[in-house]
Amino acid sequence: MSNNIEGKIIVITGASSGLGEAAAKHLSKEGAMVVLGARREDRIQALAAELKNKGGKSLAIKTDVTDVAQVKNLVDTAVKEFGQVDVIINNAGLMPQSPLDRYKIDEWDRMIDVNIKGVLYGIAAVLPYMQKQKSGHIINVSSVAGHKVRAGGAVYSATKHAVRVISEGLRQEVKPYNIRTTIISPGAVETELPSTISEPDIAENFIAFYKKIAIPADSFARAVAFAVSQPDDVDINEILFRPTKQEI
Ligand SMILES: NC(=O)c1ccc[n+]([C@@H]2O[C@H](COP(=O)([O-])OP(=O)(O)OC[C@H]3O[C@@H](n4cnc5c(N)ncnc54)[C@H](OP(=O)(O)O)[C@@H]3O)[C@@H](O)[C@H]2O)c1
Repeated sequence: MSNNIEGKIIVITGASSGLGEAAAKHLSKEGAMVVLGARREDRIQALAAELKNKGGKSLAIKTDVTDVAQVKNLVDTAVKEFGQVDVIINNAGLMPQSPLDRYKIDEWDRMIDVNIKGVLYGIAAVLPYMQKQKSGHIINVSSVAGHKVRAGGAVYSATKHAVRVISEGLRQEVKPYNIRTTIISPGAVETELPSTISEPDIAENFIAFYKKIAIPADSFARAVAFAVSQPDDVDINEILFRPTKQEI
């Protein structure tokens, strides 16, 4: 019986580490063709080579999601190489947390550009293909921070709330095209994400918190696989998961 993952062409942004890398490995093992986008080209090339060595089909394309043309190129190349695009995982993101009165305005801009605009550019790149195909699946990565706000995380949380709002609007708009939409909202998962915090005192707290409770990135990969593997008439709209130990 098909797992409904095998043979799918799946584009993943932020595939060079953490959740994106784990999803790529898991989905490739399940028989998907994964198209990897991120800025660190050496990392995605090495991952594509590793997946190919294990018998998978994979392609790595250097992509900065803040550049709409590069995101379009990522998806267009996937379609050119493999014939269509079945799934996009808009996963690239960063989390430089800090209280607003530290005025890290460059970091606010960066989070808005990557976490919100990057997701919109991913949607814009796949929609024309998926509307024409009358099939597809758009997976956007939010967070527990897309449900809860905590001091020090206002801007990050705002970007992750925005991802959920955009995803729900998209869900309603794509009904006529048989396109599925899923929000995945993880809690603390072991990745390089805390390294994007530039304020030393806040980084120290986060790293200690993650060391105590974070769960492996394969938890995310399994959540993605669950959503993708459903029969085509089942649309998993959101998965919110946390480490069992996580309080908030
Ligand atoms: N880990 C958690 O606890 C957690 C919890 C909730 C939500 N999330 C979300 O999960 C997503 C993935 O994060 P992660 O935890 O896996 O962290 P990570 O290990 O730091 O991975 C972040 C990924 O985003 C990519 N990225 C950053 N800026 C980019 C840009 N301008 N263009 C293209 N790619 C870019 C990075 O690749 P390059 O640097 O190579 O470009 C990297 O592959 C993020 O949206 C994050 O907010 C994570």
